[in-house]
Amino acid sequence: MIEAVKKYYANLNINFETNDIMITTGGSEALTMVLNCILDDGDEIIIPEPFYPNYNTFVRLTGGVIRPLTTSAEEGYNFANREKIEALINEKTRAIMFTNPGNPTGIVLKPEEMRLIADIAKEHNLFLIGDEVYREFVYGGEPLQSIAQFDDLHENAIVIDSVSKRFSACGARIGTVITRNKELQQQLMKIAQARLSVATLDQIASTALYNVDPSYFDAVRAEYKLRRDTIYAKLQEIPGVVCKEPKGAFYVMAKLPVDDTDAFQTWLLTEFQDNGETVMFAPGAGFYATPGCGKNEVRLAYILNKADIERAMDLLAMGIKKYNELKK
Ligand SMILES: Cc1ncc(COP(=O)(O)O)c(C=O)c1O
Repeated sequence: MIEAVKKYYANLNINFETNDIMITTGGSEALTMVLNCILDDGDEIIIPEPFYPNYNTFVRLTGGVIRPLTTSAEEGYNFANREKIEALINEKTRAIMFTNPGNPTGIVLKPEEMRLIADIAKEHNLFLIGDEVYREFVYGGEPLQSIAQFDDLHENAIVIDSVSKRFSACGARIGTVITRNKELQQQLMKIAQARLSVATLDQIASTALYNVDPSYFDAVRAEYKLRRDTIYAKLQEIPGVVCKEPKGAFYVMAKLPVDDTDAFQTWLLTEFQDNGETVMFAPGAGFYATPGCGKNEVRLAYILNKADIERAMDLLAMGIKKYNELKK
């Protein structure tokens, strides 16, 4: 499995030694292992919000604390801002962690934005954790830049990867931590030895997946790009919706013209229907660490086919209209 991962990255011109790569039980275990190695009680980690909600659980289990860097729909959830990041750094800060391409925002950082964040991590001697599990889902034509590509960041950079999103294989439970930091490698190995082994059969199957021809991803990417274009166009047609075009992953975060998307979702599931159908999304508040944020936002996953996405967005538009009429 390690050899397959090495080869995958070598094809992208990113070269690792065998010891740089550790196979884990999913990206989830990769995250918990890394966070347990670098955070002690009260240590802080900066994470742009909205973020993947399980980061809350993973960080809390270590006794660490998330310092959220709040971003907004209007700014396209961009967090590459030196002043805002540095304002959160103090003597307890150990790391900056971000998902790229973003879940839930769909943001893909530009090379100069990556460089900026890499510089900040280096200057302040922080780990930089790049959760790149959606790395194949980028729609602008450019391959994703990885934090592992900065030659001056070998001591700081930690890449999280997984087969679960890349191959729609969530049950395979195979992920990867990649770091060139030797001390961190040793600490990770202690936890790895305590939990014995990652499932052998899953590793064999995942190795086969890693060896598929890269053209496989071209077809997958084309399908998801169509879905992205479909959902984004439909959202633009709904009055009062604010969202920027997602550049990667398979999510779009949007602000809806309703006061509370949690209450709106409950109403959609219990009281609204059109021809026996309704629509379900993830209410936005759960993606924020800051109380009160995201109340009128939602995360939509464009994992349905084009026709189903169109129908779902029509249902959403109908639902918003009816809900606001009832509230008057
Ligand atoms: C950003 C992000 N990181 C990690 C994971 C977990 O990965 P895995 O399924 O490999 O445990 C997910 C799953 O949704 C995710 O969205």
